[in-house]
Amino acid sequence: MRVLDFRSDTVTRPSPAMRRAMAGAEVGDDVYREDPTVNRLEALAAEMLGFDRAVYMPSGTMTNQVALLAHTRRGQEVIVTRGAHIYEFEPGAMANLAGVSPRFVSAPYGVPDPEEVRFAIHDSPHQAPTGLIALENTHNTAGGTVVPLEAQRAVQEVAREAGLPVHLDGARLFNAAVALGVEGREVAAGFDTVSICLSKGLGAPVGSLLLVPAELESEVRRYRKMLGGGMRQAGVLAAAGLIALQEGPAALARDHAMARELAGGLVDLGLDVDLRSVQTNMVFAAVPDARRFAADLAAAGVLINALGPARVRFVTHRDLPDDAVTEALPRVEHVLG
Ligand SMILES: Cc1ncc(COP(=O)(O)O)c(C=O)c1O
Repeated sequence: MRVLDFRSDTVTRPSPAMRRAMAGAEVGDDVYREDPTVNRLEALAAEMLGFDRAVYMPSGTMTNQVALLAHTRRGQEVIVTRGAHIYEFEPGAMANLAGVSPRFVSAPYGVPDPEEVRFAIHDSPHQAPTGLIALENTHNTAGGTVVPLEAQRAVQEVAREAGLPVHLDGARLFNAAVALGVEGREVAAGFDTVSICLSKGLGAPVGSLLLVPAELESEVRRYRKMLGGGMRQAGVLAAAGLIALQEGPAALARDHAMARELAGGLVDLGLDVDLRSVQTNMVFAAVPDARRFAADLAAAGVLINALGPARVRFVTHRDLPDDAVTEALPRVEHVLG
């Protein structure tokens, strides 16, 4: 039986072209800024996303946490949307590294209300002062949902009025761009820093980039080194990242179409799926016992993640065959009995 892995878009393996590029990559010591392949990747990302500089790091967790370190000081609060990866899935790094605490704002479908954000900003002797506002696009736990550009701008305007920086966790920024039909740089516009991941839907085996203004670059490189992200001959990884960045975005539309097809099929089988949330490459379904359902499906050769007691997530990606949904749905039907 062919195993169909819908757990995450992080499970993709490097393509043959990526492996060839990795094997032949020109390298040097990146901590000395002497790795030509990393330098090319950083220059391309900065150019594509409209920033002065990009800094290559091993993971999206590191780019997010370095951004927190660069923007905040200990004891401050960071305004985050409920369910944000930067708080939920970056094992307490916010508290342990930057020493900041989250101030949550509600965000239906990942979209916060700018007035709630304005109200969450603190600057009084009675509360922890706000140091940063962080958005996420696409918003993972909301369903892989897209934050519209106007909604981003409204929050950026609130931040500007308060003199606060705004960071975007754009781990799946290109999924948002493809869904919106715009260039990546339009999604990245107006933020002080943006994190993008090459190792999700874009297909690289490793790597994220933090997009920064020139004046933050040396501090960001220092924090990267402090967290263990000085990777020396990292060009062997960046070579795959270059292919991911150049060719990955165009392939995302297929993942999105596959997610829509899957969502429709699950609804036809009687599963509870909020179709409004199916905007990119994720499908969340409500089930009575998520762990049990995931285990039963795994036994039928379909891998998914339980992301709550009664919530499971399917993610589509480039390593799933074109007929993955057609093949998966009868197995789901079988498990539903
Ligand atoms: C929205 C979001 N941000 C950040 C990350 C962190 O990326 P990494 O796994 O490379 O640390 C993830 C990972 O899945 C994510 O979904």
